Amino acid sequence: MPITVRDLRRFKAEGRRFAMLTSYDVLLARAFEAAGIPVILVGDTLGVFVLGEQTTLAVTMDDVIHHCRAVRAGIVDALLVADLPFGAYQASVEQGVRNGIRLLKEGGAAVVKLEGPEFALVDTLTAKGVPVMAHLGLTPQSFHQLGGNRVQARTGDEVIRLVANARRLEEAGACALVLEGVPNEAARQVTDALGIPTIGIGAGPHCDGQVLVGPEMLGMGDGTSPRFAKRYAELFGAMVAAARTFAAEVEQARYPDKEHSYDWPIR
Ligand code: KIV
Repeated sequence: MPITVRDLRRFKAEGRRFAMLTSYDVLLARAFEAAGIPVILVGDTLGVFVLGEQTTLAVTMDDVIHHCRAVRAGIVDALLVADLPFGAYQASVEQGVRNGIRLLKEGGAAVVKLEGPEFALVDTLTAKGVPVMAHLGLTPQSFHQLGGNRVQARTGDEVIRLVANARRLEEAGACALVLEGVPNEAARQVTDALGIPTIGIGAGPHCDGQVLVGPEMLGMGDGTSPRFAKRYAELFGAMVAAARTFAAEVEQARYPDKEHSYDWPIR
């Protein structure tokens, strides 16, 4: 059965924890769908994990739509969420509404995700029929404003503000809240304060759901990962080994062999 935004609230009400993974292409989308992952995010981390940028800031609406269509093609039941990238909603509510609608119409997303306490935009989008997943704590689109990717909400006052902003986003209509890069206790207080689920990344064990970057979780990268980013496979090493073996077999004329060629008599 296809997962909808109503299921997210139900998961929380039933105390059912759930996973979300990012994907940027049809292959990972199919694998995650086959694994029964209920929520798949086309995150603006595609700038880092697909385009090789240092931050998410350069990602455009066209980039997200392009990758969202590919992921859509691999999904049957999972709820497809797509990020509004930096510059796609900061100018005005009207700009955010236009771009949110594009993600549904052109990308095939069911939910849009956006960063920060954008109460008016969340309110307007949801009123216009565009479900919104909010995102607080470490918001990577504010990389320069935050002075880097730093853990947020470390003081009592900051936690009070975080909880207040989360409540207002829920009131504005957000269907879920990503909490990134906050201490465990801050995430616990936010999670306890909301009727919608929190989905943590680097936010400890108290969130209702957890999200990881798909290629990072699979160990597809050769770089270093933040401490929370557990690697459940080591695909980079496997990919390097496979490519080396292929090259060696070509050089030694062992590939293609009889099994991998059309060794038929010519009539
Ligand atoms: O862009 C992204 O991949 C995200 C997740 C890390 C939550 O926002």
